[in-house]
Amino acid sequence: MSAPKKLFVKTYGCQMNVYDSERMTGALEAAGYEATDSPETADMILLNTCHIREKAAEKVYSELGRLKPLKARNPDLKIGVTGCVAQAEGEEIFRRQPAVDLVVGPQAYHRLPQMEAAVRSGQRALDTDFPEEDKFDHLPAARGPRARRAPTAFLTVQEGCDKFCAFCVVPYTRGAEVSRPAERIIAEARDLVERGVAEITLLGQNVNAYHGAGPEGPVTLAALIRQLAAIDGLQRIRFTTSHPNDMSADLIAAHGEVEKLMPYLHLPVQSGSDRILKAMNRKHTADAYLDVIAKVRAARPDIALSGDFIVGFPGETDEDFEATLALCEQVRYAQAYSFKYSARPGTPAAGRTEVPEDVKSERLHRLQALLSRHQADFQESMIGRILPVLLEKPGRLPGQMVGRSPYLQAVHLVADEAAAGQIVPVRITASETNSLSGERVD
Ligand code: 5AD
Ligand code: SF4
Repeated sequence: MSAPKKLFVKTYGCQMNVYDSERMTGALEAAGYEATDSPETADMILLNTCHIREKAAEKVYSELGRLKPLKARNPDLKIGVTGCVAQAEGEEIFRRQPAVDLVVGPQAYHRLPQMEAAVRSGQRALDTDFPEEDKFDHLPAARGPRARRAPTAFLTVQEGCDKFCAFCVVPYTRGAEVSRPAERIIAEARDLVERGVAEITLLGQNVNAYHGAGPEGPVTLAALIRQLAAIDGLQRIRFTTSHPNDMSADLIAAHGEVEKLMPYLHLPVQSGSDRILKAMNRKHTADAYLDVIAKVRAARPDIALSGDFIVGFPGETDEDFEATLALCEQVRYAQAYSFKYSARPGTPAAGRTEVPEDVKSERLHRLQALLSRHQADFQESMIGRILPVLLEKPGRLPGQMVGRSPYLQAVHLVADEAAAGQIVPVRITASETNSLSGERVD
């Protein structure tokens, strides 16, 4: 038998893309590939791209320019672009970088093996259609190098978005909101648990809008979580990313009732100004958001909150920006992501008059200083506490492991590598911005 061909996948962007990369790796492993960490030795390189950040497409083109010389060294090398930039750019990618063999949008990954065969026979392959069928069913379970080792896994339950926030490309690149049937998700979760997974993060662009088909009608995310929590051996459940308007009463209640559901919620608000929220087409006010937060906190008082913010959205005044800072003061996020607005072609906000760049930068700086302060306070509040830590992988120093607290904080401690996958009690002794350190107390 000939040696397996080597596959290198570079993943950009969100957890959805990390998961997709694992699924694509699984699909190509079934077609005779083996994953590698080095592009130099690869026979297939896939750039799994994300379109949400500024100049995403340009960054992909420059990466492709850097990869092109590898083709001179290995004439069998094929290069593909997948993900949201593939979806958005389509044929244009072949025009701008002729070294590319394959362009596949997020809705067509199940056709990857056929497309790989076409590419091997010297053709170019493009697929950026939105098909009717359930693409999840045609892919083998995720099998990338990460999936083999880790006691944690991602599981996509929902894709796409119908919300059409005025700044966002997701409804165009990922298409309409679609939920997977509940029993398929549960079967996949059981399979993951059998392979040693202790923690599952349910993924969706708008995950809390999940409404998958079940035997007795549509299943909500809360109901799905309760069903998953009944799986023996599954220890922890998380989900991301949510929209405030879909934080239903049953999901809020689940945070108080389902022990396996971790006390962490990523709930983007984008702005604290009602005027800007309206211009963003977010369909909620700052007060409505704060009301959801209050209810979640009533159900689960220790919950760690996370959010996303955009500063300098077209029309944002100093007063609007101050309202965002005020909202942050009220919520006191454990962790948050903030971005300068940048126009995405084809989105409703793209033509609007922009806030000057230096104003955006100054606002981002101020917001991040505040968010960092709150994050540091949250981290420090852990010192002296004993937290159950799920051990994941070797840490920075020999003999160390890194794991996660219930609040999604990285925790470093002395522990044996063989203990990966176990949840152990750890007394927290020190905090840094992005991690904690501690010692086992069992
Ligand atoms: N400009 C800046 N930030 C954006 N995001 C999405 N689109 C844009 C854009 N055009 C941010 C939002 C979203 C996160 C994933 O990325 O905050 O929640
Ligand atoms: Fe984009 Fe999220 Fe708004 Fe959907 S809800 S349009 S994914 S920002």
